[in-house]
Amino acid sequence: MSYAYDVDEFSRYYDTFVANHVTQDAYWVDTVCEIYAEIIQRTFIDNQQTIIIDLGCGTGKDLIYFENYFKNKNIKLIGIDHSQAMLDRAKDKLNNQLTNNQIELLHGDLTNFANCLETKIIDCILLPAGTFHHLITDDERQKFINNIQQTLRPHTGLFAIYLMPDCYIYIGEPSIDNSNNQDRLQLISVENTQQNNNNNDEWICKQTFEFNIPPKIELSWQLRTCNISKFIQLFLQNNFEPVFCCLNGKELLSYDENISSLLNNNNSTPVILVFRSIKNTN
Ligand SMILES: C[S@@+](CC[C@H](N)C(=O)[O-])C[C@H]1O[C@@H](n2cnc3c(N)ncnc32)[C@H](O)[C@@H]1O
Repeated sequence: MSYAYDVDEFSRYYDTFVANHVTQDAYWVDTVCEIYAEIIQRTFIDNQQTIIIDLGCGTGKDLIYFENYFKNKNIKLIGIDHSQAMLDRAKDKLNNQLTNNQIELLHGDLTNFANCLETKIIDCILLPAGTFHHLITDDERQKFINNIQQTLRPHTGLFAIYLMPDCYIYIGEPSIDNSNNQDRLQLISVENTQQNNNNNDEWICKQTFEFNIPPKIELSWQLRTCNISKFIQLFLQNNFEPVFCCLNGKELLSYDENISSLLNNNNSTPVILVFRSIKNTN
């Protein structure tokens, strides 16, 4: 069985899937890039180039948006992904859709991306929906956070993540009635394993799909749930401070006590969280 993102045909499918199949309202599809552009703007420093990383850049949709949005600004965009198939799609797309494409695409992993960067002073690191959930072990999560620590400009740099709620990740039983469904990707089985941690509240969810492009093949991926308040705790423990938050796909709010208590009770909608690193650089 193949890991979905590594399959060439799947990467082509994903490119159109994102445009055609994702529920607009639930995932804020039309507005996430606007929010991310606002976050990028908050890292601008006068007379200095702003370096932005799109981690898990996939087929490059967001990179193209940022390039067009910040056309006359002094920015450098870097896309990183561990799937060569997704990067290949991104490369074609950037070359076709942008004149004088200067965006750098790098093959790297969330757990080691600092190694593939020339500069270790990044102004803005953006992580898209669902990507953090591909980190399955505590060790992978910690390495990811260490890589942000190593690369994010202290104090003014921002790290933003679009975190999906656990209910989008954990699937009890797949629906097997696909009779009217023209979709080429059918969920055929789900294996959920409860994590043996203190709160017993996390699941590893292995989802297997039948990909109906001849020859029919099976694809899979694994995801790990992580509730939003637990995620924030993880970053607080690692010397990050939450600074902004978006709860509706429209407004970026300053992070305060009210937001914090809203998040503790939020189990059903996505959230964009923005952190800065407060590590001591002396
Ligand atoms: C949900 S897709 C998002 C793609 C793109 N940003 C978008 O919005 O269309 C997740 C992406 O993360 C990549 N990915 C998953 N796990 C990764 C890891 N450990 N390191 C780097 N990239 C990873 C996948 O290859 C895929 O391209």
